[in-house]
Amino acid sequence: MNAKLSPGRSHDPKAREHADFNPGNLDAFWMPFTANRHFKAKPRLLARAEGMHYWTADGRQIIDGVAGLWCVNAGHGRREIAAAVAEQLTTMEYAPTFQMGHPIAFELANRLAELAPPGLDRVFFTNSGSESVDTALKIAIAYQRARGMSGKTRLIGREKGYHGVGFGGVSVGGMVNNRKAFSSVMLPGVDHLPHTLDLEHNAFSRGLPHWGAHLADALERLIALHDAATIAAVIVEPISGSAGVILPPLGYLKRLREICDKNDILLIFDEVITGFGRTGKPFAAQTFEVTPDLMTTAKGLTNGAIPMGAVFAHRKVHDAFMQGPEHLVELFHGYTYSAHPAACAAALATLDIYAREDLLTRAASIAPLWENAVHAQKGLPHVIDVRNFGLIGAVELEPRPGRPGTRAFEVFLECFERGVMVRQTGDIIALSPPLIIEPAHITQIFEVLGEVIRATA
Ligand SMILES: Cc1ncc(COP(=O)(O)O)c(C=O)c1O
Repeated sequence: MNAKLSPGRSHDPKAREHADFNPGNLDAFWMPFTANRHFKAKPRLLARAEGMHYWTADGRQIIDGVAGLWCVNAGHGRREIAAAVAEQLTTMEYAPTFQMGHPIAFELANRLAELAPPGLDRVFFTNSGSESVDTALKIAIAYQRARGMSGKTRLIGREKGYHGVGFGGVSVGGMVNNRKAFSSVMLPGVDHLPHTLDLEHNAFSRGLPHWGAHLADALERLIALHDAATIAAVIVEPISGSAGVILPPLGYLKRLREICDKNDILLIFDEVITGFGRTGKPFAAQTFEVTPDLMTTAKGLTNGAIPMGAVFAHRKVHDAFMQGPEHLVELFHGYTYSAHPAACAAALATLDIYAREDLLTRAASIAPLWENAVHAQKGLPHVIDVRNFGLIGAVELEPRPGRPGTRAFEVFLECFERGVMVRQTGDIIALSPPLIIEPAHITQIFEVLGEVIRATA
């Protein structure tokens, strides 16, 4: 690696220690959601992180425009989290939560219940967003059975939805590349709402698009087709991230809520990316004033430091299970690492930081500046839409004829060369920076992105 050619090179001694990393060692790690051969021919190796930045193995400073993978909401290198985890690991590295408990698991559940939308004050711990989704789907189906509605087993997801990579999440998800290899083994009884991305009506909307609330009415049609008596739950992301930032039209989520209520169907919000401050309130449910029955979270829960997820259940859902003989297990579900002590310690330290620095509402105050910066990309070559909400942004590029995704992939690669980390999905560049972002960082990210888009044919 020729570090001298790299702009943004820092003089960080720790980062330089890694400069002799041998790329021949890259073979064994089969990387997730990665073009492995392309990557290994020219790796992008991250070695250190602090605040808004990563440093590459060859010592270049990279500004983080995506909070890692939408998870490092309080910024990198938070010593408080590291210290809390270290202390917990030396006090008690592991304890089971099957028929046992440990105090900080309860403390964390109580803290989360205080942050949650009204009524969602029962918390089931997992280790990832995918596990949170599969947990929520199972709770929804088991809930219907627990209250004597065992015919209600169908699940309704949405086109372009992303709900992780478990079989449940892929089945209700709607991203074709994630599904096609597994099409014959999807969960049965799943149907999908239409997605809400419509460039014809909504291109370059600022914030939520005004057109499209009626798209929620498609749920009425699915109910007419399948019968409400067969449907357990509807699951949607309040804002889809992975499919390239798809926003709910104004009034759309409220309409979904009304239709679910009318038909006695649970509504699940997948808040794995929108949770923990991304939209300007702790959860998008609060920002959009629509309360689901179940809410899946992960990522920002521990600032990405230790894997952890949490499913928030409405008390009415939880209480439906609390019947029958008291010595019996009510829900046959859980993970060895549910409420892992180190993850609980990381989450508590993260919540302390969020509270101390008002980070869960910071996105709301910086959103106008962010919105202007995102929308300044309008008019650049090949830009066919820009979208934003809270501290989320997306720039959609026109696909090259016959080669979809290549233009945005090149933009992603070149931004990295120029010291800015963005995320690419299809021909969309998505942005979701740490919530500690300052105006100067916003300027830097969009200056580089704009230059790169201009330079990309
Ligand atoms: C909305 C949503 N749900 C679920 C997941 C899966 O989370 P994980 O990768 O932690 O399993 C993601 C990940 O990006 C997500 O965006």
